[in-house]
Amino acid sequence: MTLIEWKEQYNLGVPAIDHEHRELIDLINELYGSVTGSGTDISVLDFLGELYTKISAHFALEEKVMRDSHYDEYRDHKADHERLLDDIRDLMDDYEDGIYVDVEGFGKRLDEWFSEHFRTRDARLHSKIF
Ligand SMILES: [Fe+2]
Ligand SMILES: [Fe+2]
Repeated sequence: MTLIEWKEQYNLGVPAIDHEHRELIDLINELYGSVTGSGTDISVLDFLGELYTKISAHFALEEKVMRDSHYDEYRDHKADHERLLDDIRDLMDDYEDGIYVDVEGFGKRLDEWFSEHFRTRDARLHSKIF
Protein backbone atom coordinates (compact mmCIF):
# COMPACT_ATOMS: atom_id res chain seq x y z
CA MET A 1 0.00 0.00 0.00
CA THR A 2 1.38 3.36 -1.01
CA LEU A 3 0.27 6.64 0.48
CA ILE A 4 2.90 8.74 -1.24
CA GLU A 5 4.56 7.86 -4.51
CA TRP A 6 8.22 8.82 -4.75
CA LYS A 7 8.61 11.19 -7.67
CA GLU A 8 11.47 12.48 -9.71
CA GLN A 9 10.85 16.05 -8.57
CA TYR A 10 11.61 15.01 -4.97
CA ASN A 11 15.22 14.47 -6.00
CA LEU A 12 17.55 17.31 -5.09
CA GLY A 13 20.56 15.71 -6.72
CA VAL A 14 22.31 15.45 -3.34
CA PRO A 15 22.65 11.68 -2.82
CA ALA A 16 22.76 11.68 0.99
CA ILE A 17 19.69 13.89 1.28
CA ASP A 18 17.76 12.16 -1.45
CA HIS A 19 18.47 8.90 0.32
CA GLU A 20 17.15 10.30 3.60
CA HIS A 21 14.02 11.67 1.99
CA ARG A 22 13.43 8.41 0.19
CA GLU A 23 13.78 6.50 3.45
CA LEU A 24 11.28 8.84 5.07
CA ILE A 25 8.74 8.28 2.29
CA ASP A 26 9.33 4.50 2.46
CA LEU A 27 8.69 4.55 6.20
CA ILE A 28 5.48 6.50 5.71
CA ASN A 29 4.28 3.97 3.14
CA GLU A 30 5.20 1.07 5.39
CA LEU A 31 3.22 2.62 8.20
CA TYR A 32 0.32 3.26 5.88
CA GLY A 33 0.45 -0.43 4.89
CA SER A 34 0.03 -1.39 8.52
CA VAL A 35 -3.00 0.85 8.96
CA THR A 36 -4.73 -0.43 5.81
CA GLY A 37 -3.50 -4.04 5.83
CA SER A 38 -5.34 -6.87 7.53
CA GLY A 39 -4.25 -8.82 10.61
CA THR A 40 -1.70 -6.65 12.31
CA ASP A 41 -3.54 -3.38 11.84
CA ILE A 42 -2.51 -0.38 13.85
CA SER A 43 -5.02 2.33 14.64
CA VAL A 44 -5.19 5.64 12.85
CA LEU A 45 -3.98 7.28 16.03
CA ASP A 46 -0.91 5.01 16.19
CA PHE A 47 -0.31 5.69 12.53
CA LEU A 48 -0.37 9.44 13.03
CA GLY A 49 1.77 9.16 16.16
CA GLU A 50 4.43 7.12 14.36
CA LEU A 51 4.26 9.41 11.36
CA TYR A 52 4.83 12.36 13.65
CA THR A 53 7.86 10.65 15.24
CA LYS A 54 9.49 9.75 11.93
CA ILE A 55 8.95 13.13 10.36
CA SER A 56 10.04 15.10 13.39
CA ALA A 57 13.24 13.00 13.62
CA HIS A 58 14.13 14.02 10.08
CA PHE A 59 13.32 17.66 10.82
CA ALA A 60 15.38 17.61 14.03
CA LEU A 61 18.39 16.44 12.06
CA GLU A 62 18.03 19.23 9.52
CA GLU A 63 17.48 21.81 12.22
CA LYS A 64 20.64 20.73 14.00
CA VAL A 65 22.63 21.13 10.78
CA MET A 66 21.13 24.60 10.37
CA ARG A 67 21.92 25.66 13.93
CA ASP A 68 25.44 24.27 13.80
CA SER A 69 26.16 26.23 10.65
CA HIS A 70 24.27 29.40 11.66
CA TYR A 71 22.09 29.03 8.60
CA ASP A 72 20.50 32.36 7.65
CA GLU A 73 17.00 30.99 6.96
CA TYR A 74 16.84 28.78 10.02
CA ARG A 75 13.73 30.40 11.48
CA ASP A 76 11.65 30.28 8.30
CA HIS A 77 12.71 26.76 7.50
CA LYS A 78 11.92 25.56 11.01
CA ALA A 79 8.56 27.36 10.92
CA ASP A 80 7.68 25.43 7.78
CA HIS A 81 8.54 22.17 9.57
CA GLU A 82 6.39 23.23 12.53
CA ARG A 83 3.42 23.89 10.29
CA LEU A 84 3.40 20.30 9.08
CA LEU A 85 3.86 18.91 12.59
CA ASP A 86 1.00 21.13 13.84
CA ASP A 87 -1.17 19.70 11.07
CA ILE A 88 -0.46 16.16 12.21
CA ARG A 89 -1.16 17.07 15.84
CA ASP A 90 -4.48 18.63 14.80
CA LEU A 91 -5.43 15.41 13.02
CA MET A 92 -4.61 13.40 16.13
CA ASP A 93 -6.79 15.73 18.20
CA ASP A 94 -9.60 15.35 15.67
CA TYR A 95 -9.33 11.60 15.80
CA GLU A 96 -9.44 11.59 19.59
CA ASP A 97 -12.47 13.87 19.50
CA GLY A 98 -14.24 11.34 17.30
CA ILE A 99 -13.94 13.41 14.14
CA TYR A 100 -13.35 11.38 10.99
CA VAL A 101 -9.75 11.60 9.74
CA ASP A 102 -9.29 11.25 6.01
CA VAL A 103 -5.90 9.53 5.86
CA GLU A 104 -5.74 9.46 2.05
CA GLY A 105 -6.66 13.13 1.88
CA PHE A 106 -3.90 13.85 4.34
CA GLY A 107 -1.53 11.78 2.16
CA LYS A 108 -2.26 14.15 -0.71
CA ARG A 109 -1.52 17.18 1.44
CA LEU A 110 1.66 15.53 2.66
CA ASP A 111 2.71 14.88 -0.91
CA GLU A 112 2.10 18.53 -1.81
CA TRP A 113 3.96 19.69 1.27
CA PHE A 114 6.98 17.48 0.51
CA SER A 115 7.02 18.51 -3.15
CA GLU A 116 7.12 22.17 -2.22
CA HIS A 117 9.38 21.93 0.82
CA PHE A 118 12.03 19.67 -0.74
CA ARG A 119 12.18 21.78 -3.87
CA THR A 120 12.44 25.12 -2.05
CA ARG A 121 13.58 25.02 1.60
CA ASP A 122 15.63 21.82 1.55
CA ALA A 123 17.15 22.52 -1.86
CA ARG A 124 18.34 25.93 -0.66
CA LEU A 125 19.69 24.54 2.59
CA HIS A 126 21.64 21.82 0.87
CA SER A 127 23.00 24.12 -1.81
CA LYS A 128 24.44 26.32 0.93
CA ILE A 129 25.61 23.77 3.43
CA PHE A 130 26.16 20.23 2.19
FE1 LIG B 1 14.27 17.34 4.41
FE1 LIG C 1 13.37 20.83 5.73
